[in-house]
Amino acid sequence: MVMKFIKDFNFENKLVLLRADLNSDVKGENIILSQRIIEASKTINELKKKKARVVIIAHQGNPKKDDFLSLRQHAKFLNKFTKVKFIEDIIGKKAINEINKLRSGDVILLENIRFINDEFFPEKKDNKLLKILAPLFDFYINDAFSVSHRNQTSIVGFPRILPSCAGLLFEKEIKALEKISMKNCLYILGGAKPESNIKLLKGNKVLSCGLFGQMCLVANGKNLGYQNKFLEKATLNKGNYQDFLLKLKKKLKNVLTPMDFAVNFNGKRKEFLLSEFPNDYEIEDIGEETIKKYVYEIKKAKAIYMKGPAGFSQDEKFSKGTVELLKAISKSKAFTLVGGGHLSDTIEKYKLPIKKFSHVSLSGGALLNYIAGEKLPGLEAIGYYK
Ligand code: 3PG
Repeated sequence: MVMKFIKDFNFENKLVLLRADLNSDVKGENIILSQRIIEASKTINELKKKKARVVIIAHQGNPKKDDFLSLRQHAKFLNKFTKVKFIEDIIGKKAINEINKLRSGDVILLENIRFINDEFFPEKKDNKLLKILAPLFDFYINDAFSVSHRNQTSIVGFPRILPSCAGLLFEKEIKALEKISMKNCLYILGGAKPESNIKLLKGNKVLSCGLFGQMCLVANGKNLGYQNKFLEKATLNKGNYQDFLLKLKKKLKNVLTPMDFAVNFNGKRKEFLLSEFPNDYEIEDIGEETIKKYVYEIKKAKAIYMKGPAGFSQDEKFSKGTVELLKAISKSKAFTLVGGGHLSDTIEKYKLPIKKFSHVSLSGGALLNYIAGEKLPGLEAIGYYK
């Protein structure tokens, strides 16, 4: 491996482009403080200590989704742990001026990098991000392991041009993952980005939950009523929902699906058995019966990987499924790996014993692809596979 780390370079007075992952949960238009923001501040402080001049690029959400927001609030949160100035620009005059003004130890955060469409086209000729920003910098640091499954300009474009290395959080993640053994692993697959979960349906036993669990049921012919419309919305590539269900249907042999659900019943939690669907309620969590069955499976497992929450865990009424599964995992003597921003935030919020998990990753999709044995473009770009 020729991948380099922060400790391998002298950053004094150098202009450093830092790709961080600040992507956080959103409630209405408000960002919720996440572990990702806290961890990013540690890398920023290290670079300040090394007297670098730092420009952070990061994203929040995806175009056309409700969580596609400015990074202004992220800057406010970052300022609880370090000192960062927010610049409402990315490649315009304002940004360039501020970058040129930076002194040793100064840090600025640019606006949501996904506001510039070229972020999604790293190979594009005359890519504006690369053309305007890359010549200004001495180094590129990827501290966003959790975005490294994306073939995007801020992940693969800059390291092709600039000397680059992994940040502190990236280093922590990759070193922990290299130690894990996933043989005969029980997968608990939930979360709000269900499409990627299909990659892990290769024979291991799976406990399905979250939107993914519901989709497994629909793929098997179950009608969930009102909830159906949320499932289609949750697939990133809209037109492909039916194709996705067809593919999923063929891979469900070792997949356990929820037997009951908690729904939003006039603002309260109410549980219904699967046989009581279709109905007119929005599903927000797995129910008691499912929790019992899944906890039993967790107790028997020799290695466990949980990806994504079992329901809408940010709301206390609907966090029960996620919290109970995490509690059971924390009690297991098996090797336990927990991934995704939501799960680490839940562990933090409910004061679950973080040290009892073998590794808690802040990465969701990237970790899943890594476990599925795929080459991650972001890792490749900074020399991990060499
Ligand atoms: C994540 O939340 O998993 C990362 O920030 C990547 O976000 P994305 O799935 O929107 O690319």
